[in-house]
Amino acid sequence: MGVPLFDTRTPLAPLHDRLLAAIGGVVEDSRFILGPDVEAFEREFAGYCGAGHAVGVANGTDAITIALRAMGVGPGDDVVVPSFTFYASAEAIPPTGARPVFCDVDPDTYCVSAETVRRALTARTKAVIAVHLFGNVAPVAEIEALGVPVLEDAAQAAGSTSAHGRPGALGTAATFSFFPSKNLGCFGDGGAITTSDEQIADRARMLRFHGSRDKVSYEHVGYNSRLDELQAAILRVQLPHLDSWADGRRAAGEHYRSAGLGDVVDLPVPTPGSQPAWHLYVIGHDRAEAVSAALSAAGHGSRAYYRRPVHLQPAMARYAEGVLLPGTEAAARRHLAIPMSPVLDAAQAHEVTESIRAALR
Ligand SMILES: Cc1ncc(COP(=O)(O)O)c(C=O)c1O
Repeated sequence: MGVPLFDTRTPLAPLHDRLLAAIGGVVEDSRFILGPDVEAFEREFAGYCGAGHAVGVANGTDAITIALRAMGVGPGDDVVVPSFTFYASAEAIPPTGARPVFCDVDPDTYCVSAETVRRALTARTKAVIAVHLFGNVAPVAEIEALGVPVLEDAAQAAGSTSAHGRPGALGTAATFSFFPSKNLGCFGDGGAITTSDEQIADRARMLRFHGSRDKVSYEHVGYNSRLDELQAAILRVQLPHLDSWADGRRAAGEHYRSAGLGDVVDLPVPTPGSQPAWHLYVIGHDRAEAVSAALSAAGHGSRAYYRRPVHLQPAMARYAEGVLLPGTEAAARRHLAIPMSPVLDAAQAHEVTESIRAALR
Protein backbone atom coordinates (compact mmCIF):
# COMPACT_ATOMS: atom_id res chain seq x y z
CA MET A 1 0.00 0.00 0.00
CA GLY A 2 1.22 3.45 -0.87
CA VAL A 3 2.23 5.75 1.99
CA PRO A 4 0.62 9.21 1.77
CA LEU A 5 2.69 12.40 2.16
CA PHE A 6 0.74 13.17 5.33
CA ASP A 7 -2.15 11.66 7.24
CA THR A 8 -4.42 14.03 9.11
CA ARG A 9 -7.34 11.61 9.32
CA THR A 10 -5.97 8.70 11.37
CA PRO A 11 -4.74 10.70 14.41
CA LEU A 12 -8.12 12.47 14.68
CA ALA A 13 -10.28 9.35 14.41
CA PRO A 14 -10.27 8.58 18.18
CA LEU A 15 -11.35 12.18 18.87
CA HIS A 16 -14.41 12.25 16.59
CA ASP A 17 -17.01 12.19 19.36
CA ARG A 18 -15.24 14.85 21.39
CA LEU A 19 -14.79 17.07 18.33
CA LEU A 20 -18.46 16.80 17.42
CA ALA A 21 -19.43 17.56 21.02
CA ALA A 22 -17.19 20.64 21.02
CA ILE A 23 -18.72 21.88 17.77
CA GLY A 24 -22.21 21.19 19.19
CA GLY A 25 -21.31 23.16 22.30
CA VAL A 26 -20.48 26.24 20.24
CA VAL A 27 -23.69 25.91 18.21
CA GLU A 28 -25.67 25.62 21.45
CA ASP A 29 -23.90 28.57 23.04
CA SER A 30 -24.10 30.64 19.82
CA ARG A 31 -21.26 33.04 20.64
CA PHE A 32 -19.40 32.56 17.37
CA ILE A 33 -16.89 35.42 17.52
CA LEU A 34 -14.41 35.89 20.37
CA GLY A 35 -16.36 33.79 22.83
CA PRO A 36 -15.31 31.57 25.74
CA ASP A 37 -13.52 28.91 23.66
CA VAL A 38 -11.18 31.47 22.05
CA GLU A 39 -10.41 32.89 25.48
CA ALA A 40 -9.80 29.43 26.96
CA PHE A 41 -7.74 28.26 23.99
CA GLU A 42 -5.57 31.38 24.19
CA ARG A 43 -4.91 30.66 27.86
CA GLU A 44 -4.22 26.96 27.26
CA PHE A 45 -2.01 27.53 24.19
CA ALA A 46 0.05 30.26 25.89
CA GLY A 47 0.53 27.84 28.82
CA TYR A 48 1.56 25.05 26.47
CA CYS A 49 4.17 27.23 24.75
CA GLY A 50 5.41 28.77 27.97
CA ALA A 51 4.47 32.29 26.83
CA GLY A 52 2.59 34.89 28.82
CA HIS A 53 -0.06 35.54 26.19
CA ALA A 54 -1.63 34.03 23.08
CA VAL A 55 -3.83 36.00 20.69
CA GLY A 56 -5.97 34.00 18.27
CA VAL A 57 -6.10 35.36 14.72
CA ALA A 58 -7.57 34.27 11.38
CA ASN A 59 -4.48 32.55 9.93
CA GLY A 60 -0.71 32.27 10.18
CA THR A 61 -0.09 34.95 7.52
CA ASP A 62 -2.14 37.64 9.29
CA ALA A 63 -0.42 36.53 12.49
CA ILE A 64 2.96 37.62 11.07
CA THR A 65 1.73 41.00 9.78
CA ILE A 66 -0.08 41.76 13.03
CA ALA A 67 2.80 40.59 15.23
CA LEU A 68 5.32 42.70 13.29
CA ARG A 69 3.10 45.76 13.63
CA ALA A 70 2.58 45.04 17.31
CA MET A 71 6.40 44.90 17.65
CA GLY A 72 6.55 48.40 16.18
CA VAL A 73 7.60 47.50 12.63
CA GLY A 74 6.45 50.01 10.02
CA PRO A 75 7.37 52.08 6.97
CA GLY A 76 11.11 52.63 6.52
CA ASP A 77 12.05 49.51 8.51
CA ASP A 78 13.79 46.36 7.25
CA VAL A 79 12.77 42.89 8.35
CA VAL A 80 15.23 40.03 7.77
CA VAL A 81 13.55 36.85 6.58
CA PRO A 82 14.81 33.61 5.04
CA SER A 83 14.06 32.98 1.39
CA PHE A 84 13.83 29.20 1.85
CA THR A 85 10.39 29.12 3.50
CA PHE A 86 6.73 29.26 2.59
CA TYR A 87 6.02 32.46 0.62
CA ALA A 88 3.79 33.87 3.39
CA SER A 89 6.76 34.37 5.77
CA ALA A 90 7.94 37.21 3.49
CA GLU A 91 4.59 38.17 1.96
CA ALA A 92 3.39 39.28 5.40
CA ILE A 93 6.10 41.99 5.65
CA PRO A 94 5.21 44.59 2.96
CA PRO A 95 1.68 45.15 4.35
CA THR A 96 3.38 46.62 7.46
CA GLY A 97 5.16 49.17 5.24
CA ALA A 98 8.54 47.51 5.94
CA ARG A 99 10.87 45.89 3.41
CA PRO A 100 11.83 42.19 3.41
CA VAL A 101 15.61 41.61 3.39
CA PHE A 102 16.36 38.04 2.44
CA CYS A 103 18.89 35.96 4.33
CA ASP A 104 20.31 32.50 3.73
CA VAL A 105 19.65 29.21 5.52
CA ASP A 106 21.93 26.40 6.60
CA PRO A 107 21.11 23.73 3.96
CA ASP A 108 21.60 20.94 6.56
CA THR A 109 19.01 22.25 9.04
CA TYR A 110 16.96 24.32 6.54
CA CYS A 111 16.87 27.07 9.20
CA VAL A 112 18.50 30.49 9.49
CA SER A 113 21.58 30.73 11.71
CA ALA A 114 23.02 33.68 13.63
CA GLU A 115 25.66 33.94 10.90
CA THR A 116 23.23 34.01 7.94
CA VAL A 117 21.12 36.61 9.77
CA ARG A 118 24.15 38.72 10.71
CA ARG A 119 25.15 39.00 7.05
CA ALA A 120 21.71 40.42 6.19
CA LEU A 121 21.42 43.02 8.97
CA THR A 122 21.15 46.65 7.87
CA ALA A 123 21.05 49.94 9.75
CA ARG A 124 17.26 49.79 9.39
CA THR A 125 16.68 46.23 10.62
CA LYS A 126 13.80 46.36 13.09
CA ALA A 127 13.13 42.63 13.41
CA VAL A 128 14.18 39.19 12.19
CA ILE A 129 11.72 36.48 11.25
CA ALA A 130 13.25 33.15 12.27
CA VAL A 131 11.28 30.38 10.60
CA HIS A 132 11.29 27.04 12.41
CA LEU A 133 11.15 25.31 9.06
CA PHE A 134 9.75 21.79 8.75
CA GLY A 135 9.56 21.64 12.57
CA ASN A 136 13.28 22.19 13.13
CA VAL A 137 14.00 24.95 15.67
CA ALA A 138 15.98 28.02 14.56
CA PRO A 139 18.61 29.31 17.06
CA VAL A 140 16.54 32.24 18.32
CA ALA A 141 18.66 33.11 21.39
CA GLU A 142 21.82 33.34 19.25
CA ILE A 143 20.03 35.65 16.82
CA GLU A 144 18.62 37.89 19.56
CA ALA A 145 22.17 38.09 20.95
CA LEU A 146 22.97 40.09 17.77
CA GLY A 147 20.79 42.79 19.34
CA VAL A 148 17.69 42.50 17.17
CA PRO A 149 14.22 41.27 18.19
CA VAL A 150 13.11 37.95 16.73
CA LEU A 151 9.64 37.05 15.55
CA GLU A 152 9.49 33.26 15.39
CA ASP A 153 7.49 31.92 12.46
CA ALA A 154 6.45 28.73 14.24
CA ALA A 155 3.74 27.78 11.71
CA GLN A 156 5.40 24.40 11.17
CA ALA A 157 6.79 23.81 14.66
CA ALA A 158 3.97 23.23 17.14
CA GLY A 159 5.13 20.37 19.36
CA SER A 160 8.87 20.87 18.76
CA THR A 161 11.20 21.59 21.69
CA SER A 162 14.61 23.16 22.14
CA ALA A 163 17.16 23.56 24.92
CA HIS A 164 15.64 26.99 25.62
CA GLY A 165 11.99 25.91 25.66
CA ARG A 166 9.27 25.56 23.07
CA PRO A 167 8.76 27.54 19.88
CA GLY A 168 6.36 30.31 20.83
CA ALA A 169 8.41 31.34 23.85
CA LEU A 170 11.92 31.66 22.40
CA GLY A 171 11.83 35.12 20.82
CA THR A 172 10.16 38.49 21.35
CA ALA A 173 6.97 37.12 19.78
CA ALA A 174 5.94 34.11 17.70
CA THR A 175 3.29 33.19 15.17
CA PHE A 176 1.47 29.93 14.46
CA SER A 177 -0.75 28.62 11.69
CA PHE A 178 -3.50 26.14 12.44
CA PHE A 179 -4.05 25.26 8.76
CA PRO A 180 -5.53 21.73 8.76
CA SER A 181 -2.35 19.91 7.75
CA LYS A 182 -0.19 21.60 10.41
CA ASN A 183 1.04 19.72 13.52
CA LEU A 184 -1.87 21.34 15.37
CA GLY A 185 -4.54 21.98 12.75
CA CYS A 186 -8.12 23.22 12.89
CA PHE A 187 -10.91 22.59 10.39
CA GLY A 188 -10.30 25.64 8.25
CA ASP A 189 -7.97 28.60 8.67
CA GLY A 190 -6.67 29.74 12.03
CA GLY A 191 -3.58 31.21 13.65
CA ALA A 192 -2.14 32.70 16.81
CA ILE A 193 0.48 35.10 18.10
CA THR A 194 2.30 34.32 21.33
CA THR A 195 4.46 36.66 23.38
CA SER A 196 5.42 37.39 26.95
CA ASP A 197 5.51 41.14 26.23
CA GLU A 198 2.37 42.71 27.65
CA GLN A 199 2.44 45.65 25.26
CA ILE A 200 2.86 43.51 22.14
CA ALA A 201 -0.01 41.26 23.25
CA ASP A 202 -2.22 44.25 23.91
CA ARG A 203 -1.48 45.80 20.49
CA ALA A 204 -1.99 42.48 18.70
CA ARG A 205 -5.34 42.06 20.43
CA MET A 206 -6.41 45.49 19.22
CA LEU A 207 -5.05 45.06 15.70
CA ARG A 208 -6.98 41.80 15.14
CA PHE A 209 -10.17 43.71 15.95
CA HIS A 210 -10.03 46.83 13.74
CA GLY A 211 -7.56 48.53 16.06
CA SER A 212 -10.11 48.83 18.86
CA ARG A 213 -10.37 47.61 22.44
CA ASP A 214 -14.02 48.36 22.91
CA LYS A 215 -15.79 48.93 19.54
CA VAL A 216 -16.10 52.57 20.56
CA SER A 217 -12.63 54.03 20.13
CA TYR A 218 -10.52 52.93 17.11
CA GLU A 219 -6.85 53.59 17.91
CA HIS A 220 -5.19 51.93 14.88
CA VAL A 221 -6.02 51.01 11.30
CA GLY A 222 -6.21 47.32 12.01
CA TYR A 223 -7.70 44.13 10.60
CA ASN A 224 -10.70 41.91 10.92
CA SER A 225 -8.63 38.84 11.78
CA ARG A 226 -9.96 36.69 14.58
CA LEU A 227 -9.69 32.99 15.34
CA ASP A 228 -13.24 31.61 15.01
CA GLU A 229 -14.90 30.27 18.13
CA LEU A 230 -15.63 26.99 16.32
CA GLN A 231 -11.96 26.58 15.42
CA ALA A 232 -10.88 27.38 18.97
CA ALA A 233 -13.26 24.71 20.32
CA ILE A 234 -11.79 22.19 17.86
CA LEU A 235 -8.23 23.17 18.80
CA ARG A 236 -8.98 22.78 22.51
CA VAL A 237 -9.90 19.14 21.94
CA GLN A 238 -6.66 18.54 20.06
CA LEU A 239 -4.12 20.49 22.12
CA PRO A 240 -3.80 17.85 24.89
CA HIS A 241 -2.75 15.36 22.18
CA LEU A 242 -0.12 17.55 20.51
CA ASP A 243 2.78 16.15 22.52
CA SER A 244 1.95 12.53 21.75
CA TRP A 245 1.52 13.40 18.05
CA ALA A 246 4.90 15.17 18.20
CA ASP A 247 6.41 12.00 19.71
CA GLY A 248 4.87 10.05 16.82
CA ARG A 249 6.51 12.40 14.30
CA ARG A 250 9.89 12.03 16.03
CA ALA A 251 9.47 8.25 16.11
CA ALA A 252 8.66 8.26 12.37
CA GLY A 253 11.96 10.11 11.78
CA GLU A 254 13.72 7.42 13.80
CA HIS A 255 12.01 4.69 11.72
CA TYR A 256 13.52 6.22 8.58
CA ARG A 257 16.92 6.36 10.27
CA SER A 258 16.68 2.72 11.40
CA ALA A 259 15.61 1.67 7.92
CA GLY A 260 18.93 3.03 6.64
CA LEU A 261 17.58 6.03 4.72
CA GLY A 262 20.61 8.06 5.83
CA ASP A 263 22.87 5.73 3.81
CA VAL A 264 21.35 6.90 0.52
CA VAL A 265 20.15 10.51 1.05
CA ASP A 266 20.86 13.40 3.42
CA LEU A 267 18.53 13.28 6.41
CA PRO A 268 17.32 16.53 8.01
CA VAL A 269 19.67 17.62 10.80
CA PRO A 270 18.08 18.87 14.05
CA THR A 271 19.60 22.15 15.23
CA PRO A 272 21.75 21.72 18.39
CA GLY A 273 19.59 20.94 21.43
CA SER A 274 16.32 20.69 19.50
CA GLN A 275 13.85 17.85 19.24
CA PRO A 276 11.87 18.66 16.12
CA ALA A 277 8.28 17.46 15.75
CA TRP A 278 8.86 17.00 12.02
CA HIS A 279 6.00 18.76 10.26
CA LEU A 280 7.55 17.69 6.98
CA TYR A 281 10.34 15.14 6.74
CA VAL A 282 12.64 16.65 4.15
CA ILE A 283 15.54 14.75 2.66
CA GLY A 284 18.27 16.13 0.42
CA HIS A 285 19.74 14.66 -2.76
CA ASP A 286 21.09 15.91 -6.09
CA ARG A 287 18.64 13.58 -7.81
CA ALA A 288 15.60 14.66 -5.80
CA GLU A 289 13.36 14.69 -8.87
CA ALA A 290 14.28 11.10 -9.76
CA VAL A 291 13.53 10.07 -6.15
CA SER A 292 10.17 11.83 -6.36
CA ALA A 293 9.29 10.11 -9.64
CA ALA A 294 10.20 6.70 -8.19
CA LEU A 295 8.14 7.30 -5.04
CA SER A 296 5.19 8.35 -7.15
CA ALA A 297 5.53 5.22 -9.33
CA ALA A 298 5.46 3.12 -6.15
CA GLY A 299 2.32 4.92 -4.93
CA HIS A 300 4.04 6.93 -2.19
CA GLY A 301 3.62 10.65 -1.63
CA SER A 302 6.42 13.21 -1.93
CA ARG A 303 6.67 16.91 -2.74
CA ALA A 304 9.29 19.58 -3.29
CA TYR A 305 7.64 22.49 -1.50
CA TYR A 306 10.02 25.33 -2.23
CA ARG A 307 11.82 24.52 -5.50
CA ARG A 308 11.75 28.26 -6.35
CA PRO A 309 12.74 30.16 -3.19
CA VAL A 310 10.87 33.29 -2.19
CA HIS A 311 13.49 35.84 -3.34
CA LEU A 312 13.14 34.44 -6.88
CA GLN A 313 9.34 34.78 -6.92
CA PRO A 314 8.08 37.49 -9.32
CA ALA A 315 6.36 39.55 -6.61
CA MET A 316 9.59 39.79 -4.61
CA ALA A 317 11.84 40.93 -7.48
CA ARG A 318 12.06 44.49 -6.14
CA TYR A 319 13.43 43.20 -2.81
CA ALA A 320 15.84 40.67 -4.33
CA GLU A 321 18.24 42.75 -6.38
CA GLY A 322 21.80 41.47 -5.93
CA VAL A 323 20.72 38.87 -3.37
CA LEU A 324 22.90 35.75 -3.47
CA LEU A 325 21.94 32.86 -1.21
CA PRO A 326 23.98 29.71 -1.90
CA GLY A 327 22.55 27.69 1.01
CA THR A 328 19.03 28.53 -0.10
CA GLU A 329 19.74 27.59 -3.69
CA ALA A 330 21.22 24.24 -2.65
CA ALA A 331 18.26 23.51 -0.37
CA ALA A 332 15.76 24.57 -3.04
CA ARG A 333 17.38 22.32 -5.63
CA ARG A 334 17.96 19.24 -3.43
CA HIS A 335 15.03 19.05 -1.00
CA LEU A 336 12.16 16.61 -1.11
CA ALA A 337 9.47 16.02 1.52
CA ILE A 338 8.67 12.35 1.96
CA PRO A 339 5.77 10.82 3.93
CA MET A 340 5.50 11.99 7.57
CA SER A 341 2.72 11.82 10.13
CA PRO A 342 2.26 11.01 13.82
CA VAL A 343 1.20 7.49 12.84
CA LEU A 344 3.82 6.59 10.21
CA ASP A 345 5.12 3.21 11.35
CA ALA A 346 8.34 1.24 10.89
CA ALA A 347 6.94 -0.89 8.05
CA GLN A 348 5.87 2.19 6.10
CA ALA A 349 9.23 3.89 6.67
CA HIS A 350 10.95 0.71 5.45
CA GLU A 351 8.80 0.61 2.30
CA VAL A 352 9.48 4.24 1.43
CA THR A 353 13.19 3.81 2.17
CA GLU A 354 13.42 0.77 -0.10
CA SER A 355 11.74 2.68 -2.96
CA ILE A 356 14.28 5.47 -2.54
CA ARG A 357 17.17 3.04 -2.33
CA ALA A 358 16.03 1.30 -5.55
CA ALA A 359 15.65 4.65 -7.32
CA LEU A 360 19.22 5.62 -6.50
CA ARG A 361 20.88 2.29 -7.14
C1 LIG B 1 6.38 28.74 7.51
C2 LIG B 1 4.99 29.25 7.29
N1 LIG B 1 4.70 30.53 7.56
C3 LIG B 1 3.47 31.03 7.41
C4 LIG B 1 2.42 30.24 7.00
C5 LIG B 1 1.09 30.88 6.77
O1 LIG B 1 0.06 30.29 7.49
P1 LIG B 1 -1.45 30.34 6.95
O2 LIG B 1 -1.54 29.40 5.79
O3 LIG B 1 -2.25 29.90 8.12
O4 LIG B 1 -1.74 31.75 6.58
C6 LIG B 1 2.65 28.87 6.75
C7 LIG B 1 1.58 27.92 6.42
O5 LIG B 1 1.04 27.75 5.43
C8 LIG B 1 3.97 28.38 6.88
O6 LIG B 1 4.25 27.11 6.61
